[in-house]
Amino acid sequence: MNVTIIGTGYVGLTTGVALAYVGHNVVCVDKNPRIVEMLSQGQATIHEPGLEELLGRAKSHLKFQTDIPELSGDGVVFIAVGTPTKANGDADLQYVDAAAKEVAEKIQADAKLVIVNKSTVPIGSAKHVEGIVHRALSAKGVDAAVWVASNPEFLAEGRAMHDTLYPDRVVIGADDPTPIGLLRNLYAPLLEQTFPDPAETPRPERYTLPALITTTPTSAELTKYAANSFLATKISFINEFSRLAEHVGADITEVSRAIGLDTRIGSKHLQAGIGWGGSCFGKDTRAILAMAKSYDYQMPIVESAIQVNQRQRLHVIDKLQKRLKVLRGTTIGLLGLAFKGNTDDLRDSPALTLIEHLHERGAVIRVHDPVSVPNTKRLYPDLPVEYCDKVVELAANCDAIVVATDWPEYNRLPLADIKAAMRGDLILDARNMLEPSMVSEAGLTYVGVGR
Ligand code: UDX
Repeated sequence: MNVTIIGTGYVGLTTGVALAYVGHNVVCVDKNPRIVEMLSQGQATIHEPGLEELLGRAKSHLKFQTDIPELSGDGVVFIAVGTPTKANGDADLQYVDAAAKEVAEKIQADAKLVIVNKSTVPIGSAKHVEGIVHRALSAKGVDAAVWVASNPEFLAEGRAMHDTLYPDRVVIGADDPTPIGLLRNLYAPLLEQTFPDPAETPRPERYTLPALITTTPTSAELTKYAANSFLATKISFINEFSRLAEHVGADITEVSRAIGLDTRIGSKHLQAGIGWGGSCFGKDTRAILAMAKSYDYQMPIVESAIQVNQRQRLHVIDKLQKRLKVLRGTTIGLLGLAFKGNTDDLRDSPALTLIEHLHERGAVIRVHDPVSVPNTKRLYPDLPVEYCDKVVELAANCDAIVVATDWPEYNRLPLADIKAAMRGDLILDARNMLEPSMVSEAGLTYVGVGR
């Protein structure tokens, strides 16, 4: 099938690469010539495990260009452009609207096309995009068969390739059986898992075929917001309990494990720590509140999830202050800048909140991150931090070290060398990822969150 993808961010690029790998002919369009150039040369533009390898494997079916191609015959067009947040919390649809207009310009009379909203868009966006496209088509006198469907994306960064090749479910929201049939065919290799699994992103053991869920466009659009709001709430819930665990002297990691084994609760997204960040949870929870408000409807659970999350980030600063008493003049080492491990994405990263508050309190801040340093220097050239290439270098003269990002390699910290290099002895594990006894055995003081 001919597939065109507008936008090569996390969603557009991984979708394009995966669909090309399973055999479709994919053209990925991005206005930025530098991105198109890099991707055409097989270089990944984002840090995502397995992406560059699959880019290489799929290259015979994959093209990158700055212009949308002519759209004729059967095909699917994904709109996967950014939907930033407006000042009032609403999603800004200017890029979606522009993409819809540009797509309409390229549609030929013989086209039988499904346009898919893959970006996270407000309720009613399928109808909105359909309106833009149909108005543009009738203005240019083209009578093509075009439908708009909603097909939300559930991939998590750091495991985007894995989540795209092995989804839990595929949700298609459309009002007509024809676009549902076209998208079912498009996703058949994933739904039936007929492709050979790439070595770098192997099919998980005991993976069961994903369900295809067909809904109205509105239900599909709401599903995406409900999924992200639920996951954000789940993390805020365990973080709220982690504070109580500190008061009563329980260990939240034990509590998480014990409740997570209840299949009604489930063990994922129950890791207490510094709170959630990233491009989606903050944006989508705010957008759903703004949307509800336009119906004069309150959503106190989602509101509280956001509040608890803000409080949780500051709790890490409080913990440091309680131990060190005065932060002014201290040297604090931050392990990790990205909003979570296995990504170089800094959007709404809790580490940036820590830097802001530590700087305000007069601390000297040293940072390490295995991949996000170039991104950080580019995006925040004036960040008041000292960059360190090695963890031991970072530890030199530190009064405390905070594990701010759950990079897998921070599980193997050279603790004895860190101890020797530090001035103080405090390790604040804001991700609850270290083994406390190993930290103590190295002569360091371990402080986690809720344990
Ligand atoms: C999320 C959703 O998981 C994904 O389905 C959706 O498509 C986009 O939003 P993402 O933001 O990439 O994906 O990452 P996710 O793994 O969900 O983590 C979000 C944040 O929550 C990160 O800051 C992470 O560190 C934090 N987190 C996650 C926790 O604090 N505890 C957990 O148990 C899980």
